[in-house]
Amino acid sequence: MYILGLTTLGDAAASLVCDGKLVAAAEEERFSRVKHHSGFPYNALQFCLNQAGIGIGDVEHVSLYWKPWILGRKAAQALKSLAISMDMFRARVDRGVAQVSDSYLGMLKYPRMIRRRYGPSGFRFRYLEHHLCHAASAFLVSPFESAAIFTLDGTGEETTTLFSRGQGTRIQPLKRIKLPHSLGQFYSAVTNLLGFDMFGGDEWKVMGLAAYGEPEYYDFFSNRVLTTNGNYDFRVNIRTLDHHLAKRYQFSDEIIGALGPPRRPGEPISERHQNIASSAQKVLEDVVLHLLEGLHKQTGEESLCLAGGVAFNSVMNGRIINESPFKRVFIQPAAGDAGCSLGAAFLTHNMILKNRRVFEMDHAYWGPSFSNEIRDGAG
Ligand SMILES: [Fe+2]
Repeated sequence: MYILGLTTLGDAAASLVCDGKLVAAAEEERFSRVKHHSGFPYNALQFCLNQAGIGIGDVEHVSLYWKPWILGRKAAQALKSLAISMDMFRARVDRGVAQVSDSYLGMLKYPRMIRRRYGPSGFRFRYLEHHLCHAASAFLVSPFESAAIFTLDGTGEETTTLFSRGQGTRIQPLKRIKLPHSLGQFYSAVTNLLGFDMFGGDEWKVMGLAAYGEPEYYDFFSNRVLTTNGNYDFRVNIRTLDHHLAKRYQFSDEIIGALGPPRRPGEPISERHQNIASSAQKVLEDVVLHLLEGLHKQTGEESLCLAGGVAFNSVMNGRIINESPFKRVFIQPAAGDAGCSLGAAFLTHNMILKNRRVFEMDHAYWGPSFSNEIRDGAG
């Protein structure tokens, strides 16, 4: 039985599972040569079918990594932001309208569009919750029979952080943290504050820069921007640092007063910029370690599975491995949204269709490859 998983906005990807085993998985950017390709993964889907030597008619289930109709929370957040400032409201509404018209409603047309392009098929199409797909991408292909699962990203439909527990083929959500409280959006806002580009996926530059600095602004970030209440929870104060305004390189007077002017793109990097990066990185790490302490207490599990874009932060992951109470950690290599295509397929196979787990992901080489033979241009 073939199951296809799809990610279509940002890091578009396709994954194909046959009888519970991964056959192929690829990001669309490998074919389009456009980094973080956003849109339907036409080429990646075709690649998966080719790898298996099948047509779309052989696929019984197609699962998408998103429930496009959950927009209520985003609309509510946009309205709430009106109480804070008109700029903040506009930054949200502009993006909201663009997303709805260009992307989310388009998802409802996928089943018909796939049949029209790839041929007739009786597949059943499902829309799955984004963070459950992240969770499945880590737990269901991990070596663990049971584990705590922690997924953290910019945002899914409305959830930004999911605490769950996996046992056998089942993933049980325990707690969801929703917009506007997002670890990924916090880090992206700092990325633009430092003159980098969150849309280009520059967060790794902040992580790298952090190593050169001292956490001089730690108290400011932990008291005024990304806070915990000691109850294994966190909050982002969007009045101080707002992700949507940061997208336009707009920052509050409070941020500028505490940290100095934002770095303009291309401006030389100073010690102050290094210290801002170091402070934001350390606050992120400390908050995540605090959250994981709570998850460990709640589940009693010794193993941990991680996914979601923030799980690309390898410095944070190093501290999780060394300092969290978990003894074993499995991190989905495609921790970002591309990995959700894989998660959607396994969530369907194991949790929805209740088939036992027969696959462990012990490498990440599931995409296009080439041989070692190198020929010259005239060859
Ligand atoms: Fe995500």
